[in-house]
Amino acid sequence: MTTQKDGLLIVPIIDATPGMKLGSPAYNRNGVKMLDAGTVIKSSSQLERLIGQGVQRLLIDTGDNAAPQQTPNRKTGTRSEPAPIRKSPQEFVSEMKKELVVAREVYKSASRVIENVMSDVRMGKHINNEAVKSTARDLVKSVLRNPHALLSIANLKRLDDYTFRHSVNVAAISVALANHLSFEPHLIEIIGIGGLMHDVGKARIPMHIINKAGSLTQEEFETVQHHPDYGVDICLSEHFDDSLILDIVRHHHEAYNGSGYPEGIDHTQISKFAAIVSIADFYDALTTVRSYKKKITPPEAISIVNSTSNIKFDRRLVFHFIKIIGIYPIGSVIKLASGRTAIIAGFYADDLLNPLIKVLITADHTLCRDDSTLPLKEMDDTIVELNTDFRLMGNIEDVL
Ligand SMILES: [Fe+2]
Ligand SMILES: [Fe+2]
Repeated sequence: MTTQKDGLLIVPIIDATPGMKLGSPAYNRNGVKMLDAGTVIKSSSQLERLIGQGVQRLLIDTGDNAAPQQTPNRKTGTRSEPAPIRKSPQEFVSEMKKELVVAREVYKSASRVIENVMSDVRMGKHINNEAVKSTARDLVKSVLRNPHALLSIANLKRLDDYTFRHSVNVAAISVALANHLSFEPHLIEIIGIGGLMHDVGKARIPMHIINKAGSLTQEEFETVQHHPDYGVDICLSEHFDDSLILDIVRHHHEAYNGSGYPEGIDHTQISKFAAIVSIADFYDALTTVRSYKKKITPPEAISIVNSTSNIKFDRRLVFHFIKIIGIYPIGSVIKLASGRTAIIAGFYADDLLNPLIKVLITADHTLCRDDSTLPLKEMDDTIVELNTDFRLMGNIEDVL
């Protein structure tokens, strides 16, 4: 929680940004002093080092002597912002609800754009480059207004249109992660385009391999492994020639330890842009319900992603990723130990195991008349079952 006291602010390390001035020393998990009081945080990588050392909170000096916090960091392409103050559950829900209505339209239109892109490539036609770019802009605008709305739509999986939804989900998650990491808006947009286009090369892979139910043969797998290179060819011929977009498309299957494809480069050569799209891609593929695949719930997927720290993905990136996705995705229907059915209405990045809950159905199987949303810890109850397949319940905004 972010708390203000006498010109000092306790800020979870995850919300700290370059430009902030420490009001007290920062100690690591072993009690060793990492930074002195009065130190001004210089960069995101300095914060990442503190995270790596187990620092969880910083006491920030908000007095007149603190360095300005709004200066864009030109070197890293990130922007600096003051740490947000935690909203009440009601504020959290009403702000997200407002954006959900818009985000749903953005998501639907993005899925249509990707469907057209894939079919145009298959038919050898030119793709609508402008439509992809304006879709990325719309995704960024939605995330900047409220990141939880679009993310919750991307996180609730349905058993249809996998390829189109997958690309939109990857773009949405990547944009939210880049925003969380304080990338500048024009770079977030590039990441959005890269997310939308990351699998465009699959349009050159035979349909029977792409849609195959079950595992691929070695030969089929080798064919699929060409899709990043095909994607780069397609991007170049369709005027997506920004080197960052090409980097994302080419390297979204590379791994931290060098075990990925097509080049087998490791973390010293993988850009942050490709790594962001790569983690979004991995998570979305894990949690997507496909007819032949055992369903993996988001908490299971989070634990799989976490177990790949410094194998597939940089540990620091995994840390930030979990902060934006949450352990209990918004919109998940849950059963509580009391017998009540409820919905996850939100969560705070610094308190992931204490999500905001709204009860829908009482233990007597009647509709709940109480409209309030509460943190789990204030409910004297526990979560015993999680269901992210929300089809039976309609849209999240209709029940929040
Ligand atoms: Fe891919
Ligand atoms: Fe993908």
